[in-house]
Amino acid sequence: MNPVSYKQKLEGKSNAHLITFDDGKDYVVKFFQDGFEKSLPNEWVSYCLGRYLGLPIPFGKIIDIPKEFSAQVPELADMSDVPYQFVSEYIPDCLNGHQASNICRINNQQTLAGIILFDYWLYNRDRTRKNILLREENEHAFRLWVIDHAEVFGGYAWEQAEIENLPADIIKSATHQLMALFIENEQDFFEQLELIQTIPILLIEEIVTLIPDEWNVSKEEKKAMVTALVTRRTKELPDIMKRFIKTVYRPLNECMKNLNNLKNLKNSRF
Ligand SMILES: Nc1ncnc2c1ncn2[C@@H]1O[C@H](COP(=O)(O)OP(=O)(O)O)[C@@H](O)[C@H]1O
Ligand SMILES: [Mg+2]
Repeated sequence: MNPVSYKQKLEGKSNAHLITFDDGKDYVVKFFQDGFEKSLPNEWVSYCLGRYLGLPIPFGKIIDIPKEFSAQVPELADMSDVPYQFVSEYIPDCLNGHQASNICRINNQQTLAGIILFDYWLYNRDRTRKNILLREENEHAFRLWVIDHAEVFGGYAWEQAEIENLPADIIKSATHQLMALFIENEQDFFEQLELIQTIPILLIEEIVTLIPDEWNVSKEEKKAMVTALVTRRTKELPDIMKRFIKTVYRPLNECMKNLNNLKNLKNSRF
């Protein structure tokens, strides 16, 4: 897959660029950046695990943009020479979580509990409203995608000591709250937890091993990534999940139920 034409720089701290490739599709390209050394390894590992879990993550891969192409594009002049970039397929005609209003339905709502658990498993504090995409498929009914996993494992420049000690607290995320409102079945959380817990360790190791050497993740750091994932899914995640259900999911849904009851009552009286 080769780049054909440069389109534009995208908003955000990752310095992402929109480029058309010779398969006729547009991709969002993220380059290696000094000071953000773990962004691309984070994106890669999240992408593979997310796809395994069936989460709505745009198709992605690792490619190498030829220097001859970058040299012709002024916007790419300052990009690092480190080989290999992470690309994800551009999903057109979307709004982010700030822009979409009057959401009455999420058509792929069965994936929402999985997204929340995934964020807690990988400790992604960056599930902001800008990091979901919503495409209106029917009136007030949207399909949701998740993007931007540059800050999993606590951030884009994590150190080994941090990844070995990822917090188990409830993350304040208006996006998680929004998603929680559309989860119809509490059982979804438990099914997703089981799916996460049964990913073969060999697969997790393979995904981490495939991080290009050029991205400079040391052997010890890679081992720490695998250990964090394998430990966290059984040690911390079940408890975090139960706390999320109790302190976020149930209260929000109770509140919505009461509001709807109130609305019905009002409608029946007037
Ligand atoms: N696959 C995609 N499809 C459509 N738009 C995207 C996609 N990936 C990123 N974007 C757009 O590019 C912006 C920046 O990408 P993102 O991955 O969030 O990087 P960051 O926020 O770290 O700069 C997003 O906020 C979104 O508007
Ligand atoms: Mg972002």
